[in-house]
Amino acid sequence: MIIIWSHLVLPLFSVSFKVFKITKWDGLKVTWGPNPEAPGVFTKQPETEKEALAAGFEKINECEARYPWKGSRYLKNGDRSLMLLYDVAGYIAGIQAQVPENQPNGFPSTYQRPPFVKDGSFWTITVYFTDPSKICTTGRTAEEFKQQGIGSNLYIQNSTRPKDSIIIPRNETGLANSLWKKGPCFPMMGTHYWWNQSEDLSCDQTFPVFLFYTGQQLVGFGWAFVTNLSSPNYEHPPAILYKMFMNPVPKCLMTSGVTTSMHIYLTSQPEKITC
Ligand SMILES: *[C@@H]1O[C@H](CO)[C@@H](O)[C@H](O)[C@H]1NC(C)=O
Ligand SMILES: *[C@@H]1O[C@H](CO)[C@@H](O)[C@H](O)[C@H]1NC(C)=O
Ligand SMILES: *[C@@H]1O[C@H](CO)[C@@H](O)[C@H](O)[C@H]1NC(C)=O
Ligand SMILES: *[C@@H]1O[C@H](CO)[C@@H](O)[C@H](O)[C@H]1NC(C)=O
Repeated sequence: MIIIWSHLVLPLFSVSFKVFKITKWDGLKVTWGPNPEAPGVFTKQPETEKEALAAGFEKINECEARYPWKGSRYLKNGDRSLMLLYDVAGYIAGIQAQVPENQPNGFPSTYQRPPFVKDGSFWTITVYFTDPSKICTTGRTAEEFKQQGIGSNLYIQNSTRPKDSIIIPRNETGLANSLWKKGPCFPMMGTHYWWNQSEDLSCDQTFPVFLFYTGQQLVGFGWAFVTNLSSPNYEHPPAILYKMFMNPVPKCLMTSGVTTSMHIYLTSQPEKITC
């Protein structure tokens, strides 16, 4: 009997150990694709200003109080789908995407501005990985960067003032009784959460940031734009697949045309995310 039980119990234990444990956010990667080995899928991003320069990014703004975001800002090849923010010490601090104004369908709607904030001829959306109030003052120490990796928390800027950002719980249980609505889990993405989603949600009122968790741990977030934008960093999920990420799928999405998304991973190993 004892021998039989040990055979039963051991596999159960090994299953529970398969949960992908996120001890720290040890990497920043963007863009999901069905083949994790394909170019342009799970693309590693530079974690320091020095690495950004070496990777061919160029600085377009310094950390300055007058901007409605925090961080010195970098982009590569003029591609505004992916703008990286670094603190005054040169450590990664946040990420932005920009949508050119005058999209044919008017995205982002006035309801969505903020979180979209005007920046020249673009609408900008910003998420920080560290306390925005420190990004342009002290930045992180070498010790904090070593301990935390990409950051300490997710701060979604939902106003023109970075300090008013929303802090997202790193433990999925922290979303219970909130307006974040749970969607299905998808391998190499995790369990999705969408803000205040319902069948009758208007496509003018979708929140353009979603979250995803694995083993109850926040492992990433993404952009979801109801407009057709072009960049190798963007994903264009076919409408028939929306139900694999959302529950319920807002009806308006079935007639809103091509949408644009980007999964942003706070781990060096997105391929380890299981369901
Ligand atoms: C963003 O701000 C708007 C306006 O204040 C608010 O209605 C909405 O609930 C906020 N979104 C989130 C995700 O907290
Ligand atoms: C949530 O969605 C409902 C229905 O679409 C809407 O009436 C309500 O104002 C929304 N709440 C927030 C905080 O966005
Ligand atoms: C999340 O919080 C719950 C409730 O406090 C706890 O039981 C669980 O172990 C936590 N999960 C992780 C991954 O920390
Ligand atoms: C979406 O944009 C791409 C690139 O600009 C274009 O090739 C494609 O035809 C557009 N799709 C639709 C349905 O408009």
